[in-house]
Amino acid sequence: MNNRTSIDLSLIDPDDLDNNTVDTPHLNDVLALRLHRRHVLKGGVGAMAVAAFGPPALASTGSSAGSLPRARAAKSLAFTAIAKSLVDEVTIADGYTATVIYATGDSIDPYVPDYVGDGNEANFARRAGDHHDGIHYFGLCPNGKRQDNATNRALLALNHENISGTQIFLHPNGPTTTAGARPAAEAIKEIEAHGVSVIEISKTLGGKFAVQKNSRFNRRVTAGSNVSIAGPVRGTKWVKTAFSTEGLMTRGTLNNCGHGYTPWGTYLTAEENWAGYLRRDAGDDAKRVALYGQRDVNALKRNGMTQGRLGNYGWSTATPDANMNPTEFSRWNTSVIEGRAADGTEDFRNVHNTFGYIVEVDPYNPQAMPKKRTALGRRANEGAWGSLPKEGKPLAFYIGCDSRGEYVYKFVTAKKWNPEDGNRGGLAVGDKYLDQGTIYAARFDANGTGVWEKLDLSNPKVATGVADSTLNPGGYQFEDLADICVNTRLAAGAAGATRMDRPEWTAVNPTNGEIYITMTENPDRGNSGTTSNNIPNPDVDASNPRAWLDLRTDSATKQRGNVHGHIVRIREDGDDAGATTFRWDIFLFGAQAKADVGVDDVNYQQNVNISGLTEWNDLSKPDGCWFSSKTGILWIETDDNTLTDQSNAMLLAAIPGRYGDGGAVVVNNLLNGDPEQGRTPPAGSDTTVTTYAGRKMTDATFKRFMVAPKGAEITGVTESPDGRVMFVNIQHPGENTTAGNIGDPTKFESHWPGNGGGVAAYGPGGAAARPRSATVMITRNDGGLIGADLGERSKDRD
Ligand code: FEO
Ligand code: CA
Ligand code: CA
Repeated sequence: MNNRTSIDLSLIDPDDLDNNTVDTPHLNDVLALRLHRRHVLKGGVGAMAVAAFGPPALASTGSSAGSLPRARAAKSLAFTAIAKSLVDEVTIADGYTATVIYATGDSIDPYVPDYVGDGNEANFARRAGDHHDGIHYFGLCPNGKRQDNATNRALLALNHENISGTQIFLHPNGPTTTAGARPAAEAIKEIEAHGVSVIEISKTLGGKFAVQKNSRFNRRVTAGSNVSIAGPVRGTKWVKTAFSTEGLMTRGTLNNCGHGYTPWGTYLTAEENWAGYLRRDAGDDAKRVALYGQRDVNALKRNGMTQGRLGNYGWSTATPDANMNPTEFSRWNTSVIEGRAADGTEDFRNVHNTFGYIVEVDPYNPQAMPKKRTALGRRANEGAWGSLPKEGKPLAFYIGCDSRGEYVYKFVTAKKWNPEDGNRGGLAVGDKYLDQGTIYAARFDANGTGVWEKLDLSNPKVATGVADSTLNPGGYQFEDLADICVNTRLAAGAAGATRMDRPEWTAVNPTNGEIYITMTENPDRGNSGTTSNNIPNPDVDASNPRAWLDLRTDSATKQRGNVHGHIVRIREDGDDAGATTFRWDIFLFGAQAKADVGVDDVNYQQNVNISGLTEWNDLSKPDGCWFSSKTGILWIETDDNTLTDQSNAMLLAAIPGRYGDGGAVVVNNLLNGDPEQGRTPPAGSDTTVTTYAGRKMTDATFKRFMVAPKGAEITGVTESPDGRVMFVNIQHPGENTTAGNIGDPTKFESHWPGNGGGVAAYGPGGAAARPRSATVMITRNDGGLIGADLGERSKDRD
């Protein structure tokens, strides 16, 4: 039985139907023309820089909202899909080569010794950090200035998210603690292993890129670097600390996950799970209630900051050396210290409010202090991906908040886009666009439409605040915009935004402006109980419609809820980034191809494998997603732990289609008869939900391209502007290694990339190497575009 019904045409803008038969020039042809014209008219590299922003430049040619110029994109994928793999290597499609260029611990400074792989490396402020994540390519012309379309020389800006699971490899014998205190040198190394790298790469004789160790652009921004606080929260009570008594600065950017970039050539790094790093002593709740009221504790709990915690790595326990700032480590303790000033200027009780932002970094200016753009709000940010800029219209940045049951957001700039600002570049342009604007949170309605709820006091629901409840005694009322920018999650809840299945990365289709948002998974979906974020678990709904039972071949663990995740797609009404309404469907439902043995496969195919995935494209936990502006391919990266009995994490390529290319689907979640269905006890009844699915995948439109080494996830992807070199980040291979096994390399989960698994062996150690996160360069052996064929593009129209 086919449970897919025809699409509700009333939900589709006629402009979305593929009825345009005019053979318009390809995006890149238009760009080339435009580049030429700009260059002739104005000359100079700066003008080229603006023109080279493909979609922005194209979109600013006078098109009106509602009829975006349509760029062509590849309609087929130029490789044969690969099988799943459990091997400790990078496996990649035939005809492509993977080469490691930048791994954890690599020196980026001629005065810093090379990585040796025994945990004795020091000075990570001048080495590659750990856990490579979001990444972006910033072109450089031969004279070292910004040139967005440069293909021979560039800066890569990339995130170093965490050290979880790999902390043991940073030190000779793993992390140590003496009498409850971490050694200063170890804590500093770990702090510096976080943050952002900016590294210069240029093409060598073989036509491949290599990192330029001597470059003046090479830079680390770490969890110890000074960072300015900008926007509505700057100088407010929320961020006053002993380090910055006026609330103008903080130290460090933390847990940098996904990313974004701006049309003026800066990098946006997203602070995600910052809360876990901070210490909050037992008894802090009572002190805060006495000083500031229950409201203060409610705000902390909403961000997962319960009392009685040391912080993930115990950095606050270290004692600074004489040459360090005396508060270098005490700043990781966000407890109220008895007898210190109530405004927080004598301790670090407010330091938690200085993390959780989108941070702007100027890769072209190593001296420019990064800025926390508080106007975009505070949450567990996965990234901030920009809309297609249109001249005279606001810009939007789309942001997921990655925890179970959290929200999808966008920030809309107050200022309208002026393409000349692309010429100017730098953080001064960021001051113009990123310090004033409006935060919205998404409400996904059951009929396939949606509302962007405004998060300011002009929204009556926000003005009313969070209601008094058992979980939030006294509720939470907002004082002003700065309060909303700090406590953005609370504001989104008050506004009635929809609680989603862990919103991760956002991506914007360069051909039509549609927004894709990965919902990586949610074992709580449909379950009873309370999430880690202090709110009851949500039941299935139209935009998070599945909860099912999934088994493993390697353990007795029964996985329930939304086990493998999905990808939501949004089309702004009027194709206007500032719109307050939108339409949505679900582009992709993650699933294994067939139900596990013992589970009804007929039901599974209808209600779980809704996208029709096969052995060649089945996946679990889509986490990152990224569009190539050259080919229009949507690349999907997984961070898996639920299909890992069958495969390591993977990178897949999809032909994205468009909003509304599928139809309404009725999902029957068979929840009766627990424990063999989707809910954890107590069992509920079956729940039927109508949702809106994108067209089914085929083995031609969706293919597995690459599989990661053991224990790794695949994170950031970026590309040179000619589409011929792709950079892919491999994060935390070997993360499941038991700490006690640090002395026995045979027990490491992974030895990649030192072992040469699928790449030329990189760094020391060989088969006994400590595993390292790394940036991998992907090239096609015939020199072609990554994932698509050049000749084919010219006849494609989608
Ligand atoms: Fe940093 Fe949600 O992954
Ligand atoms: Ca399974
Ligand atoms: Ca992620």
